[in-house]
Amino acid sequence: MNTAVPVITIDGPSGSGKGTLARAVADALGWHLLDSGALYRIIGAMCTRRGVSFADEWQVVELAESLDIRFDEDKVSVDGQDLSDEIRTEDAGLNASKVAQMPGVRAAVFELQRRFRKPPGLVADGRDMGTVVFTDAALKIFLDASTEERAQRRYKQLKNKGLSVSLPGLLAQIEERDARDRGRAIAPLKPADDAQVVDSTSMSIEAVVELVLQQARKRAL
Ligand code: C5P
Repeated sequence: MNTAVPVITIDGPSGSGKGTLARAVADALGWHLLDSGALYRIIGAMCTRRGVSFADEWQVVELAESLDIRFDEDKVSVDGQDLSDEIRTEDAGLNASKVAQMPGVRAAVFELQRRFRKPPGLVADGRDMGTVVFTDAALKIFLDASTEERAQRRYKQLKNKGLSVSLPGLLAQIEERDARDRGRAIAPLKPADDAQVVDSTSMSIEAVVELVLQQARKRAL
């Protein structure tokens, strides 16, 4: 790993807008992007495809270690198959949070993630980017928003895609995933001691991007 390559970490709960923020910051700086949640989503989806039970941790870990994962812009392929849409469903998010509790899965993903650190820099979004994976990051952001606001944003996103969804159902799923992510024994979701906590509940995404870019400029990134 090249520790001289600067990293900006963006952690936070599901639906806080991390993904959109991370992409905008990476584009503005011309840096690489790591969507670490996609890795857990892929492992969950591949378990479902291959009939591996989440109760069988040993088999889940074996599968996680064997996957050939490739990112190309917005597309992700695994062992030559396009999984880009399959990993974006609410179910895929819930399954991701199940495999993400397993220490062996996290160890396999840890190694994969560090390979994304390449010049001129990396913006990494997830749950433990600042607390575990890139502890020496030059700038750490913890992006939060109220549960209701996060459910509303997700609701609008899915509606715009023409999907029929229920707001109470989404709220319940977000609460379930948050509780699992915050309560797990390994790498629980929490701000790093040196993270800047940003509450985006009543902020536009443009305002959040500007705030983070200002912080990056302050650090000469
Ligand atoms: O960010 P995203 O919603 O795609 O993440 C899906 C799930 O993967 C999260 O709910 C969490 O359980 C897990 N995850 C994680 N650590 C990360 C990124 C995601 O445990 N760095």
